[in-house]
Amino acid sequence: MRGPIGAARKLAIAEKAPLYLVGGAVRDLLLRRPVVDVDLAIEGDAVGFGKSLARTAGARISAHERFGTVVLEFPGGARLDVASTRKETYASSGALPKVGPAGIEEDLARRDFTINAMAIRIAPGRPFLLDPFGGRRDLRSGTVRMLHEKSPHDDPTRAFRAARYANRLGFSVEGRTRAWIREAIRRRAFDSISGDRMRREIRLLFSEENRARAAGLLSRLGVDRAVDPALTSPLAVRRGLSRAERIASRHPGKTGWFLYLLVWAGDVSEKAAARIARRVALTRGDLSRMLRWPSLLARLRREARSIGPSIARAERLSPEEIAAAAAFLGPPAGPRLELLLRSLDTSLSIGGRDLLAAGVPAGPRIGKALEATLDALREGRISRGRELEFAVEAALGQTR
Ligand code: CTP
Repeated sequence: MRGPIGAARKLAIAEKAPLYLVGGAVRDLLLRRPVVDVDLAIEGDAVGFGKSLARTAGARISAHERFGTVVLEFPGGARLDVASTRKETYASSGALPKVGPAGIEEDLARRDFTINAMAIRIAPGRPFLLDPFGGRRDLRSGTVRMLHEKSPHDDPTRAFRAARYANRLGFSVEGRTRAWIREAIRRRAFDSISGDRMRREIRLLFSEENRARAAGLLSRLGVDRAVDPALTSPLAVRRGLSRAERIASRHPGKTGWFLYLLVWAGDVSEKAAARIARRVALTRGDLSRMLRWPSLLARLRREARSIGPSIARAERLSPEEIAAAAAFLGPPAGPRLELLLRSLDTSLSIGGRDLLAAGVPAGPRIGKALEATLDALREGRISRGRELEFAVEAALGQTR
């Protein structure tokens, strides 16, 4: 073993402290997928261990003494999280757990799914796999399985996580796990999830590919309706999510996860949009965009034939709203909206000074003429070479 894990192993051997690779890294190693985050668990004092490791390996350390965890950043950029093995008890559904020291078995038993509840003991002695819940079997059969019935009550965000792993890995959610999640929802376990946590889970889910499948999985679990009864993921929404993914890939850098939240909301009423915005604690720009989404869709449907840069400017539409509407509405408005999205890349090569130099008197008409010219350029009504001529005409035309 080399690198940061090798250094951690050497230190653990010297300190005679049992050290484990845990969580997603074990799952991804067994699946031969790239390992992104490395989590280590130590039976002992993680903070003390992390500090020694940082000293010997020249890593930067941030410690959360209260949680008994440290994050190390090694020269070269590698990151390592170290935690003390622990058990968790939940006083009530969705509450943060009470944490206490425990051995690796209890540490694995508090985890979400069998495929995430494996560990590789890396020190001392020869490395070996600990798999008390049959994680390897579930990796082979493609199954997301919770460890026990109370799991989705203790931490209802695991319902989103189930959909996220099933979607990412192409797995299915095991029948009993599905029933446990539905039961937790029926008993209103979701009520205890804060808006921030809810939004974070939805953002994580919609940051990975195959959003249509992700929405389908959420729907089978009843999670969408638990976020809000208006979220039912009908076919139009799932089609829209697939389209949104294709549109986003044609316009890289213009959109993020919020595009998918709008499409997921689909044809909700204004009242429902306001509820959803509140439930997932949207703020500022995203909040106002969600609130006006139903009326925007209605307007774009009504004015499908006249969709163009002037609507985008008048309504100050963001690229995400344009992309979401394009995806959800589909033809005939969709392609027009996508053209509009593309046209946002086009900007004027002239400015107010050029108009002043051409004899247009200073005043608000200059700004208006430039806007009209930009619209014309974006709509393809004029070519680049005609910008100044058009702008001057527009400005002088306004004086008459
Ligand atoms: N975990 C859990 N319940 C949660 C969150 C996390 O049991 N609600 C445990 C799982 O064992 C998980 C580990 O903590 O593997 C680390 O969590 P996280 O970093 O969220 O997930 P990863 O498994 O690393 O997966 P990803 O690839 O999505 O980062």
